[in-house]
Amino acid sequence: MCGIVGYIGQETALDYLLNSLRVLEYRGYDSSGIAVYSPKAGIQILKAKGKLSNLIDLTEKQKIAGQVGIGHTRWATQGAPSDINAHPHSNAQSEIVIVHNGIINNYLALKEELINQYKIKFTSETDSEIFAHLIGVFTEQGLGLKEALQATIQKIKGTYALAVLSKKEPNKILLTCHEAPLVIGLGKNQDLFCASDSSALMQYTDQIIRLKDAQIAELGENGKWVIYDEKGIVINPEIQTLTLDPLLMDKGGYKHFLLKEIHEQPAILRKLLGVHLSDDLQIQFPKLDPKVLKGINRILILGCGTAYYAGMIGKIVLESLAQIPTELEFASELLARPSVLADEKTLVIAISQSGETADTLLAVKTALKKGARLLAITNRPESSLANLASGACILTQAGIEVSVAATKSFTAQILCLYFLAISLSETNKGLPEKQIEWIKQEMRYLPQIMEQTLSRAENYKKKILPYATKKAFIFLGRGLNYPIALEGALKLKEITYIQSAGYAAGEMKHGPIATIDEGVPTFSIITPGPLYHKTLHNAIEAKTRGAPSLGIVVDEDKEASQELDALFYIPTLPFSAEYEHLQDLFTPFISVIPLQLSAYYLAEYLGKDVDQPRNLAKSVTVE
Ligand code: M6R
Repeated sequence: MCGIVGYIGQETALDYLLNSLRVLEYRGYDSSGIAVYSPKAGIQILKAKGKLSNLIDLTEKQKIAGQVGIGHTRWATQGAPSDINAHPHSNAQSEIVIVHNGIINNYLALKEELINQYKIKFTSETDSEIFAHLIGVFTEQGLGLKEALQATIQKIKGTYALAVLSKKEPNKILLTCHEAPLVIGLGKNQDLFCASDSSALMQYTDQIIRLKDAQIAELGENGKWVIYDEKGIVINPEIQTLTLDPLLMDKGGYKHFLLKEIHEQPAILRKLLGVHLSDDLQIQFPKLDPKVLKGINRILILGCGTAYYAGMIGKIVLESLAQIPTELEFASELLARPSVLADEKTLVIAISQSGETADTLLAVKTALKKGARLLAITNRPESSLANLASGACILTQAGIEVSVAATKSFTAQILCLYFLAISLSETNKGLPEKQIEWIKQEMRYLPQIMEQTLSRAENYKKKILPYATKKAFIFLGRGLNYPIALEGALKLKEITYIQSAGYAAGEMKHGPIATIDEGVPTFSIITPGPLYHKTLHNAIEAKTRGAPSLGIVVDEDKEASQELDALFYIPTLPFSAEYEHLQDLFTPFISVIPLQLSAYYLAEYLGKDVDQPRNLAKSVTVE
């Protein structure tokens, strides 16, 4: 979603701003802009709709000198994507210039006040422009920039990360935030940086300060910075060390980040197994206070999109292994179900790759207010979610996920949920000890089976491309493969824009089957386990009504392979005749791979913007 960057130091600000904006491209955006101050030219603003390259073209035509500047990538919420609506925005006198992430809820009332009382003319359709005018009104009344910013945020209702430049107090950047992340980077040569996503800073520094709600930061010359609390008192903030690996922002020889990230999955699972499963098969959570899990009798899982589907799998394994009643809710729907939150014996598990998803953060805050315990499963230890969980975190260790479509974070989230389910099963006396031992032993082979599956990528490509022109797809699965069907449909629609839906296979004949014909293939996950035959019959029912039938089956499959039109074979999964009921337990980690790859190859074949699909953002920081 929108991204903010800023630089003040000894060097040319423009280079830093453009480099940082390049890093933020992965978050998704529809326009970009920069504002740079120099004593000669004052504040110069350039902005452009579309890709960052359009902005870069402008900077090549116009000389932009200056050592202090701010930049922005915008993902439109209020006002269409356009040059005019792109940030930075300024007040009428072009003295105050701002970039803003977030939404001003009382925007209409404030706009009316500014127009009626101060005769201000708005130039854009955005709510963000309010900030520039309000700060301008207060500085006109004689307040200094910091005081004007303080007065402005008193009037704003909504969410914001904000960076401000001013012609009157030129050699500084002011920052503030409320329920939107903003990070300050402390460079080595008296350079100071800011960004809404720490990945934009990692090329310059690993020393960061996370700005907290209502704080104001002033970044000045010669590396001087100061942070004020909401009362205007100078504080001594915690300086954190950033642990991101810049190499992960490289495609490493792959054509797209998405393909690279799909192939990273075995290594990530191996790493997670190393952290959480000891050689003597003990589940361990090195950074988790055991108190968080003690005495819980109910679990509520929250997430959005792919994280929610990981939560669906989590619900099944927590209930079947740990035997703890588990509810699942879209974070965005929790507000509509306030009674869903129980007492302090309820563990809320919030799943979020970015740790910055606004819906998830809001749902978590609501849960915390009601006394729930929080456990975060996230990929970003420095995120707002990790901070809210104050250390009660399981990190997915997946490294930065650049492609908008989530892949490696999904399988990592599932594995973390399995660790949790096993550990709670042990403390809660869920499944018998022997079965848990078997699960722990077998799960160590998952990275290897994933590698074998990935080595079949070219074969999956050959199988899926004949269906590239189909108008829609239906994905079917039961049990643990139902969330995988939903995830397969989400991946396909996100990156190819082909209509696709996932259904619990048994639901097919209760409605969706009416939509199928030869233009709508069904893609069924028919892997061994108690639900094998039922799923197969659902696939055949669709086939007999004209739908081309694709299926994921295991190597030694005998029945489904005779019925379907295209077969996506996956390696045989761990099986014990003694524990037949656990036969499908590991399937999701593997069955998702042909679906991820199929979506990728179709999108690539259709010439889509694989890593940055239209209208989407990597981290959805508005509700
Ligand atoms: O960062 P989060 O895990 O909280 O993001 C949640 C969803 O926005 C995300 O999974 C989204 O659905 C992805 N684009 C799916 O590929």
